[in-house]
Amino acid sequence: MSVYIVGITGGSGAPYALRLLDMLPQLGHAVKVVISPAGERVLRIETGLQLHGDVIEKQGQLHRFLGLEAPELPLELLDHGNLAAPISSGSFPAAGMVIVPCSMGSLGRIAAGVSTNLIERAADVMLKERRQLVLVPRETPLNDIHLQNMLAVRRAGADILPAMPGFYHHPKSVSDLVDMIVGKILDRLGIENALFQRWHGEDVDELLKIDDD
Ligand SMILES: Cc1cc2nc3c(=O)[nH]c(=O)nc-3n(C[C@H](O)[C@H](O)[C@H](O)COP(=O)(O)O)c2cc1C
Repeated sequence: MSVYIVGITGGSGAPYALRLLDMLPQLGHAVKVVISPAGERVLRIETGLQLHGDVIEKQGQLHRFLGLEAPELPLELLDHGNLAAPISSGSFPAAGMVIVPCSMGSLGRIAAGVSTNLIERAADVMLKERRQLVLVPRETPLNDIHLQNMLAVRRAGADILPAMPGFYHHPKSVSDLVDMIVGKILDRLGIENALFQRWHGEDVDELLKIDDD
């Protein structure tokens, strides 16, 4: 079992975050979750999950929403403002961190090394420790500042994995699109998964049939 950090910020794409939180424990991993205030707001707007009260109460609400009822859950919610949390230090043995969705605001602050909250500090730690940091931005179109910040974090060692699902696997539902992105995130972390249909090349017989028509 490895421990992963998942940061949820105020970009659109909360369903990606919840699916990742659903999958990591199923695949045998522990998770430390941090959600920004804007992330909580977008979670409510996009998924109906309303977090309120203190961090323990919010953790209970998150567990119930995800259908995790057992007391020995490996999914812990940490306070966004608590810069003294264990994940603030390089001595915490996190195998990797994902920020999904990653707002342009958080991405810019990480690029600038501004560790004003627990998500930004943990991301900064991942970069300084040369551990895996996967950022999943969702913004369009992108301005020069967004692009420069993405290049800066990429050069500092982060992976940029935009929330851009493909269509070559013939998705039938929104869940299929969500699973493709979450599968790609798990791939980046080196975690085996079968969340989406991988590309196996074109079916030559099918193509010949189309040419004949
Ligand atoms: C419904 C909603 C959707 C948003 N979608 C995005 C988005 O896709 N990308 C983005 O960069 N910001 C988006 N924002 C704006 C961010 O939430 C805002 O910049 C916020 O300050 C980010 O703070 P954080 O990085 O601390 O979470 C959205 C805001 C709302 C309310």
